[in-house]
Amino acid sequence: MTFLSDLDIVAHALDRQIASARTGAVPVLVQRPLAEIIGNLQLDRYARAGGLEGAALEGFVKNYFQNIINLHQPGYMGHQVAVPHQGAALGTLIDGFTNNPMAIYEMGPGAAAIEYFVVNWMLEKVGWKPSPLEPESQSQAAFGGGVLTHGGSLANLTALTAARTAIRPHAWRDGNRGDLVLMAPANNHYSIERAAGILGLGTSNIFRIPTDARGAMDPRSLPQALARIRAEGKTPLALVANACSTAVGVYDPLRPIGEFCRDEGIWLHVDGAHGASALLSPTYRHLMDGVELASSLTWDAHKMMRTPSVCAALLVRDHRAIDTAFDQEASYLFHDKEQPGFDFLHRAVECTKSAMGLKFYLVLAALGEEGLAQYVERRFQLAADAYGYLRELDWVETPVMPESNILCFRVPGSDATQLELRKRILAEGNFYITSTLFQNKRYLRLVFMNPDTSLDDVKRLMGRIREIDATLESMNERG
Ligand SMILES: Cc1ncc(COP(=O)(O)O)c(C=O)c1O
Repeated sequence: MTFLSDLDIVAHALDRQIASARTGAVPVLVQRPLAEIIGNLQLDRYARAGGLEGAALEGFVKNYFQNIINLHQPGYMGHQVAVPHQGAALGTLIDGFTNNPMAIYEMGPGAAAIEYFVVNWMLEKVGWKPSPLEPESQSQAAFGGGVLTHGGSLANLTALTAARTAIRPHAWRDGNRGDLVLMAPANNHYSIERAAGILGLGTSNIFRIPTDARGAMDPRSLPQALARIRAEGKTPLALVANACSTAVGVYDPLRPIGEFCRDEGIWLHVDGAHGASALLSPTYRHLMDGVELASSLTWDAHKMMRTPSVCAALLVRDHRAIDTAFDQEASYLFHDKEQPGFDFLHRAVECTKSAMGLKFYLVLAALGEEGLAQYVERRFQLAADAYGYLRELDWVETPVMPESNILCFRVPGSDATQLELRKRILAEGNFYITSTLFQNKRYLRLVFMNPDTSLDDVKRLMGRIREIDATLESMNERG
C-alpha cells in the first residue's frame, strides 16, 4: 500500500461522512461504552501487529466514524468548537505530514512567516499597529505583536504573565509579594482563574466586579472596586473583560472599561476567545467597540473562524509587553544568530508549536475576509431569529436577548428537569446541545457554530423538547 492509496481511502471516507452529516443522514452523536469502542476498533490487535493500511484502514476509519461527534450535522448546536472548513483540514494534513515546529524560524520558515502575517492581519482588525516585516530593525518602537497559542486558555495565561511582568518585572525571578489582585467578573471563563492559580496569585486574590442582570460587567462599579483594592494596600495586576461571556454570549462594555483602565494605568485584558470575531463584521463590530484601548486580547480561530482545533491568538497593543513576558534562557534555542525571519519562542508558553497559522490561513484564503464575516453574521442573526421564535412559545423562558450566537432558555421545572431533557435529547442522537448555570439557575444552551443549522432545525429541536417534556410531566418525572 502507498501513502497515496491510503490517503485516497481516507479522503473518500471523509467526504462521504461529511456529506451524510450535512444532510442529517447520520446522528450527531452516539456514545457507545469505552470498552466496546476499544474492542470494535481492534486497538489491541493493530497495536501489537501493525499493518493498519488498505482495506483494514478503510474498515478502521468507517468504524471510527461511528464514534465521532458529527459537528457538520446541522443538529450540532453544542460547545464553541469550530465546524471546520475543509481548507483548514488540509492545513492540518500538511502540518501533520511536514511537522514544522516553527517557534524558531529555522524549524519552519513558511509556517513562521504565515503566523507573522496572520498576527498582523488580526492586529489590523483590532485597530493596532501591525509589526514591521523587518522586526529586528524596529524592536524598540511601539507597535502591536502577538503569538498563536494552542488554545484560548493558554492565550489567557500568556496575557496575564505579560501583565505581571509589566507591573512586577522581578516577579519572574523572585515570585509574587502577595499584593497583586486580578479584577474580573465572576462569569469569566474558568481559564482565568486557572491562570491566577498557575501564576501563584491565588484564586482568592481575584476581585469580582459586579455584573448586571445580563451578566455584563457594570463599569460604574469600577472606581469603587479599585478604591477598595487600594485601601487594602493591594495593586491590580490586570482587569479581565469578557467579549463575550462563555455562558450566555454577552459582551462587556469595552469602551468605558478601557477608558477607566487607561486613566488608572491598569492592564486591560479582553478575553475575546469566542466573540472577537465580531471584529470582522461591519454589522457586529460595535460589540467590540473600545477594544483598541486594551493592552491584550485573546482571539480563537478555532471557535468562530472555522479553523480546526487548535489555533488561538494572543495579541498585544505593544509588542514589547509580550517580548519581555518570559525571562528565560535555553542555550540550545536562545542564542545570537543572524536569520532572515522571526522566532516566536520567547513569546509562548509552548516550546514545540504546530503550524497553527497555516490552518487558519487556508480558511481565510478560501472564504476571504468577507466570507468569514458573512459566516459570523449569519450565526449571530440565527441566534436573534431563534430568540424571536422562542419568545413566542409561552412554555419557554429566555433569560437574555442574545448578542452573539449563544442562546439560553429553560422550560418550567427544576434544574434537574433541564438536565434530564438534555440527557434525553442527546440519547436520541439528532441534536447536540449544552447546558449552563446563569444567575444560579440551570439553562439549556444553544451555540450556533454550524453554518448549515437553520431556524427550522431550531423549531424541530423545540418540538422534540416539548414532546419529551410532556412525557416527563405525564410520568411525573419532572422536578
Ligand atoms: C471566553 C472564553 N475564554 C477562553 C476559552 C478557552 O478557550 P480554549 O478552549 O481555546 O482553551 C473559552 C472557551 O470556551 C471561552 O469561551
